[in-house]
Amino acid sequence: MMDEGVFDHGTETGQALMDVLEGRQPWRRPVWFMRQAGRYLEEYRRTRAEAGSFLDLCYRPDLAAEVTLQPLRRFDLDAAILFADILLVPQAMGVQLGFKQNEGPVLEPVRSEEDLARLDPEGAAERLSPIYETVERIVEALPPHVALIGFCGAPWTVATYVVEGGGSAERMRTRLAAARGEAWFEKLMDMLVRVSVDYLARQAAAGAKALQVFDTWAGDLGDGLREKYVFDPIRRIVEGLKEKGVEVPVIGFARGIGAAQEDFARATGVRAVGCEWSLPVSYMKERLVPQVAVQGNLDPALVMAGDPALKAGVEHIVRTLPRDRHIFNLGHGFKPDTPVENVEKMLRYVRELDAELN
Ligand code: CP3
Repeated sequence: MMDEGVFDHGTETGQALMDVLEGRQPWRRPVWFMRQAGRYLEEYRRTRAEAGSFLDLCYRPDLAAEVTLQPLRRFDLDAAILFADILLVPQAMGVQLGFKQNEGPVLEPVRSEEDLARLDPEGAAERLSPIYETVERIVEALPPHVALIGFCGAPWTVATYVVEGGGSAERMRTRLAAARGEAWFEKLMDMLVRVSVDYLARQAAAGAKALQVFDTWAGDLGDGLREKYVFDPIRRIVEGLKEKGVEVPVIGFARGIGAAQEDFARATGVRAVGCEWSLPVSYMKERLVPQVAVQGNLDPALVMAGDPALKAGVEHIVRTLPRDRHIFNLGHGFKPDTPVENVEKMLRYVRELDAELN
């Protein structure tokens, strides 16, 4: 399935992603994309059909490794991201999970002490062992200049799916549980922190070079609750990894927190902050770059729209942010109907302008 010589781009001059995360000058500006493996690629749709269901795809190391590598064969990227899902963690804790075609995830909700008593966090990281096998297979197949990023969902975002029983427009039950400080909710958050540390540590042991924590719904919370349910759990994950001797750098993606990104970086100790597209690039430059590396933040709609908006968007970001502190990415994942030609163009614009400026 994985022919030799398919990765015919890139020169082996170190891993640009790791250089930026570890404070060194990279040989070029690192680039990867959230949801770079996915439905906008026909080869993904084929492998997905072969797997039968999305969850079967996640748990088959051969197929999950294959879809992880697919975008790397098309695009000269600096990182691969493990193909899995943030909701595998609650599933491994005993929360029933299904994905309905075109509707997204459906979970058996946890909303009380009794619901919580059904969960088994202790064995969860071990039940996710097919994922570590996927990591091993990917690392074996990757060219040396490409870093593999492992990931998990942040406790807050995962909790919203667990409490709501799936996606939801306002996540109001979860926000109420947080605002009231419900004891069962605090325990759920605590379980998610502990399982996430073990899960990420095992991904690192299997060969992941960096780890991203996705807090897609971090923007739900105001002052006070943001510290408690976004910053503190992610800080505990970062510190928990260090306590286990895991030195792998963590990228935090707390989507939608705007001007709180600088506090987020300081409070959690992440090595880079992923930024949503609504965050001004000038804010990234002035408030974040002095203390942390930044990742992002092109609006995925510009990639759908194409030129001239696409080129202008890329130029604005690449001209504003310095190569040694910036990981080019989107502000959130690709949409399934993104034209592949536009992805190629976007990458070409980044590479050309980055070379011209440096
Ligand atoms: O390429 C990559 O980015 C790696 C793989 C990855 C997936 N999900 C695959 C996926 C990653 C990192 C995720 C993270 C994830 N999953 C998040 C956080 C990031 C974000 O996008 O905000 C969240 C909130 C989820 C939960 C989730 N998974 C939802 C809400 C959905 C349904 C919505 C949708 O896009 O269909 C999924 C399904 C999912 N996860 C798909 C993929 C490729 C589509 C499933 C399919 O092929 O049918």
